Amino acid sequence: MKLLTERIARDGQALDRDILLVDSFLNHQVDMQLMRQIGDAFAAHFRALGVTRVLTIESSGIAPAGMTALALDVPLVVMKKRTSRITAGTVYQTNVRSFTKNTEYALTVSQKFLFPGERVLFIDDFLAMGEAALGAARLIEEAGSVLCGIGIVIEKTFQPGRKKLEDAGYDVFSLARIRQMDTGRIEFLA
Ligand code: G4P
Repeated sequence: MKLLTERIARDGQALDRDILLVDSFLNHQVDMQLMRQIGDAFAAHFRALGVTRVLTIESSGIAPAGMTALALDVPLVVMKKRTSRITAGTVYQTNVRSFTKNTEYALTVSQKFLFPGERVLFIDDFLAMGEAALGAARLIEEAGSVLCGIGIVIEKTFQPGRKKLEDAGYDVFSLARIRQMDTGRIEFLA
């Protein structure tokens, strides 16, 4: 998506070889006009799959996923990150390790909002190690729903996320693909 890669090139900041700062338009301050276009791009790509709900993880996935849900006219479901397991049988939970942030959390979704027969589109801001998306996929499967697509705003192609998701049989579509980066330099995959 040209508008997005131009924005990353202009306002993104590569802190090192691994971390891209996009807090002026995606992670902290959010450019909602850009989010609208991101939502439209995901909706155009995934519309034919018969998506019945869009799923994301708090917090930075909410804006792009919300605009996608709006464009597809389906509900948005936001999975929570809990620090401890809740044992009551009203939620689905799975542990996810965040390598970038060196934390672990229990990815949680209410059984009221994910159930058999739903066709789910998972949207997230970054694809790095793929652990968040794989965690979401586990919960979708446990709920008896179908994960019909994964939409990523910014994919770091030099990290193993895509391979892990494709090896698991999922279709991944990214709007911006970064080939490599380093302090002050960002290269995109054509
Ligand atoms: P994964 O999401 O592919 O499993 O990879 P990883 O565990 O490494 O990422 C964990 C968190 O770090 C996620 O945020 C992800 O969005 C964020 N992240 C990964 N790479 C980058 C990067 O280059 N730049 C920035 N700004 N963030 C990155 P999270 O823990 O879900 O937090 P939130 O911001 O959504 O609340």
